[in-house]
Amino acid sequence: MVATNDRTVTVFGGTGFLGRRIVRHLRSHGFRVRTASRHPDRGHRLFGPDEPQLQSVGANIHDERSVAEALAGAYGVVNAVSLYVEHGRETFHSVHVESARRVAAQALRASVDRLIHISGIGADTASQSRYIRMRGEGELAVRAAFGDALFVRPAVMFGPDDAFLTTILRLLRQLPIYPMFGRGLTRLQPAYVEDVAEAIGRTMQRAETPSTIFEFGGPRVYSYEEFLGAVAHQAGLAPRLIPIPFAVWHALAWASEMFPSPLLTCNQVQLMQIDTVSSPEMPGFVELGISPHSVEAIIQKMLSNCK
Ligand SMILES: NC(=O)c1ccc[n+]([C@@H]2O[C@H](COP(=O)([O-])OP(=O)(O)OC[C@H]3O[C@@H](n4cnc5c(N)ncnc54)[C@H](OP(=O)(O)O)[C@@H]3O)[C@@H](O)[C@H]2O)c1
Repeated sequence: MVATNDRTVTVFGGTGFLGRRIVRHLRSHGFRVRTASRHPDRGHRLFGPDEPQLQSVGANIHDERSVAEALAGAYGVVNAVSLYVEHGRETFHSVHVESARRVAAQALRASVDRLIHISGIGADTASQSRYIRMRGEGELAVRAAFGDALFVRPAVMFGPDDAFLTTILRLLRQLPIYPMFGRGLTRLQPAYVEDVAEAIGRTMQRAETPSTIFEFGGPRVYSYEEFLGAVAHQAGLAPRLIPIPFAVWHALAWASEMFPSPLLTCNQVQLMQIDTVSSPEMPGFVELGISPHSVEAIIQKMLSNCK
């Protein structure tokens, strides 16, 4: 049975891949949860009809009034809204900087105690990648608006329904020859999405509030080539991994972006050129008492799901 308390946490993006797990883990820590997204019907499909402990509301983080309404009376807020591909007025700047600032400013105005902003490992205002630069600027904008904000930077996350490992598994099964990004040397440290959601639940419960950046990476750092090899081994496959220069990927992404729903974007290619590994100086799973799951421990469940 879930313990209860009277504290409400609003989760913007609470229907997303990470957000829906954050909602469940906050509930298991006893919080009342208000899931806020542009499509509250998805919240109802995921979590059932509204009840006092768990409600789904419509809110758009670009709209000040709907943000304020979603935050009314809340003890805490988590911003787990994403944007991976820019389109029209939905830009990395508008979502990850301007609207992140809006959520933080409205949280201060609503006297919210605890704000957790989800960013990403490597967020850096000096990066060559516009996406990563905007994540860095977003963190600064949030901290300027809400001094005690907590920041969560996950590494790439995996779990059932993900866009990362599920895609790799599907392609490994379909392609006898697997084209790698570059020579497969980029380093990554995939984190299990449930571990990250549990970490956010524990962070919300902690009594102390100084602004902190947490970085959450899984138990093992792989090169991209090692990672593909480990996944293929678990799936009982032996593909040939072929290096493809990044210049070729950039050309493919450029062509792909001419279509309405690009299969590959320049941003994705840029991200595959950058290591995403947690920094040993930053607090992470260990400080929250969590032993993160390995890819190998979770993959069998995912394999049976994507047969
Ligand atoms: N997935 C990863 O591997 C990964 C790795 C590192 C960091 N992160 C970060 O983790 C966070 C969550 O990522 P995710 O992969 O879980 O995202 P996701 O699955 O794409 O979910 C995004 C959520 O945001 C909501 N949303 C989008 N635009 C909105 C808006 N304007 N107003 C209100 N809600 C909006 C979506 O619902 P509606 O469309 O219904 O509004 C959905 O609930 C992001 O900050 C992402 O950058 C993710």
